[in-house]
Amino acid sequence: MIVAIDGPSGTGKSSTSKAVAAQLGLSYLDTGAQYRAMTWWMLTNGIDVSDASEIAAASGKPAIVSGTDPEAPAISADGADASGPIRTQEVTSAVSAVSAVPEVRSRITELQRTIAAGAEGGIVVEGRDIGTTVLPDADLKVFLTASAEARAARRSGELKDKDGKAVADLAATQQALAQRDKADSSRKASPLKKADDAVEVDTTELTLEQVVECVVTLVEQAA
Ligand code: C5P
Repeated sequence: MIVAIDGPSGTGKSSTSKAVAAQLGLSYLDTGAQYRAMTWWMLTNGIDVSDASEIAAASGKPAIVSGTDPEAPAISADGADASGPIRTQEVTSAVSAVSAVPEVRSRITELQRTIAAGAEGGIVVEGRDIGTTVLPDADLKVFLTASAEARAARRSGELKDKDGKAVADLAATQQALAQRDKADSSRKASPLKKADDAVEVDTTELTLEQVVECVVTLVEQAA
């Protein structure tokens, strides 16, 4: 059972994919984390991420290793744990430029296909181009959407200070998300796009539990 879950940022892809995989005993792969780990490695190794040819030349260097446990998804670059640093603002701002470079995409796509092929019992793979490019023969393809307001509210709610107070500015978050989606949807190499045979689920008015229930039902129907 191979399940592809795509969609723009803030639609609930990660939370949904992890919960569906855990509930059904499937493996889980966060492909955004792989692009983020590549970006983090480039930033910490002095690669100029505004220069596509420098990015392309460096794209084969780091070993990017992903865990597939939905309860504890690990990610490392050249043996260094990347799970904290890949969520920083610096990486988030640079990741679209790095992931638009075809050499980066072909390297990471190959990794993704190898992981999916080796996942015994099946896997939930989340990203932007899983249904269209990485795993076009997936047993089920889901495309999650949500209004720009709902997505920004979810994302800014995730950014808390040490006392648990929300720290993000909603308007700025919405603008940053829109910018990243525009870059991800308009790039030439496998842009963010709904596959023709994907089931679209609008999560704007749904709780996480409702989205998970909906996707679990779709998986059971596809089995
Ligand atoms: O899902 P997440 O927000 O962590 O993804 C970070 C970035 O990685 C996206 O904005 C996009 O540029 C890139 N990405 C991609 N293809 C995927 C998954 C993520 O280009 N399959």
